[in-house]
Amino acid sequence: MNRPFRLAINGYGRIGRSLLRAIHASPLGAQVEIVAINEPAALETMAYLTRYDSTHGVFPGDVAIDDDHLRVDGRPIRISHATTPEDVDWRALDLDLVVECSGRYSKRPDLERFLAAGCPRVLVSQPCANAEAIDRTIVQGLNQQTLDGSERLVSNASCTTNAVVPVLDRLHRAFGVDRAFITTLHSVMNDQPLIDGYNHPDLRRTRSAMQSIIPVSTGLAHGVERLLPELRGRVDAKAIRVPIVNVSTIDLTVTLRHDVDAAGINALMAAAAAELPDIFGYCDHPSASIDFNHDPHSAVIDASVTRCNGGRLANLLIWFDNEWAFANRLLDVATHWCAVAHTARRP
Ligand SMILES: NC(=O)c1ccc[n+]([C@@H]2O[C@H](COP(=O)([O-])OP(=O)(O)OC[C@H]3O[C@@H](n4cnc5c(N)ncnc54)[C@H](OP(=O)(O)O)[C@@H]3O)[C@@H](O)[C@H]2O)c1
Repeated sequence: MNRPFRLAINGYGRIGRSLLRAIHASPLGAQVEIVAINEPAALETMAYLTRYDSTHGVFPGDVAIDDDHLRVDGRPIRISHATTPEDVDWRALDLDLVVECSGRYSKRPDLERFLAAGCPRVLVSQPCANAEAIDRTIVQGLNQQTLDGSERLVSNASCTTNAVVPVLDRLHRAFGVDRAFITTLHSVMNDQPLIDGYNHPDLRRTRSAMQSIIPVSTGLAHGVERLLPELRGRVDAKAIRVPIVNVSTIDLTVTLRHDVDAAGINALMAAAAAELPDIFGYCDHPSASIDFNHDPHSAVIDASVTRCNGGRLANLLIWFDNEWAFANRLLDVATHWCAVAHTARRP
């Protein structure tokens, strides 16, 4: 490939903007050119929130506006403000990939509207409604090698799935996981109101995000079992939103088929971090969630709090920056998928 992959972003919120920043910050970003962004907000506001980010800081580059373009370090990005895929002229953009970051499309018929409107491939920034909704769900570090370039719709799973699945996979291969219970303590998101409001069908998501610890519904267990079918029927999960703006943690409890102690689990996780340094992080000093803000690892094992009770009941704590790590995984999967698709097309 002698030109960068041509990419568009649909939905320029927390994840869409994090993706643009990840492309700007990462060496992998050289393989990608963002040619278009579709987002309902005004261009001036998009430029403002590109430049200033309360969580990730001031953008380390030049951001400007020029007619209907956002210019980042002088490079033009075509901006549209449609709320339906049919209202964007994707065909004219000669794209390799659209990254769907609005969170509004998770069923196959809805996602196929992007294909019908001229998008060659769509990478979705959330788990899809069911296995049939998507050609493949990819977690970098687990199964990205299964992409063969024939796919048109791929899901990048969720930030939580990206954090827990590589850890569960390692635990299962080393010690045999009999049962797993995953409790996610997740920072607030834009689907919650700042103070009580009628903005979500899930009653708990009508409550003030900054005033309460709020249990919310989650399809995480199904998502994990789809990626690790050997654990089907053995995983359950609970998700709790906590009033911080970024970085989340997973409290993972497993029963194992072989005896192990905390040192054995930590040695396994340290080896994983050495083998896949972009995916696993490892820390063994006293930490708080904010220490992991802007950390690109999918999962950072906090070895200082790993516990084993009686040899086969184990508990681990996993930190992850739900925005920045996930945006970097979108970039990993986007570049890998485009490269595989490009190679597959060659005679
Ligand atoms: N935030 C995280 O930590 C995180 C991590 C991993 C995955 N995700 C997933 O990524 C997706 C986006 O999350 P987010 O946190 O970035 O949400 P967000 O901040 O609300 O961003 C979504 C953006 O998409 C825009 N939008 C709404 N409808 C659209 C449409 N039809 N076409 C184009 N743009 C549209 C929204 O505009 P309006 O505000 O005007 O509606 C908003 O600016 C969700 O599926 C979420 O589950 C989020």
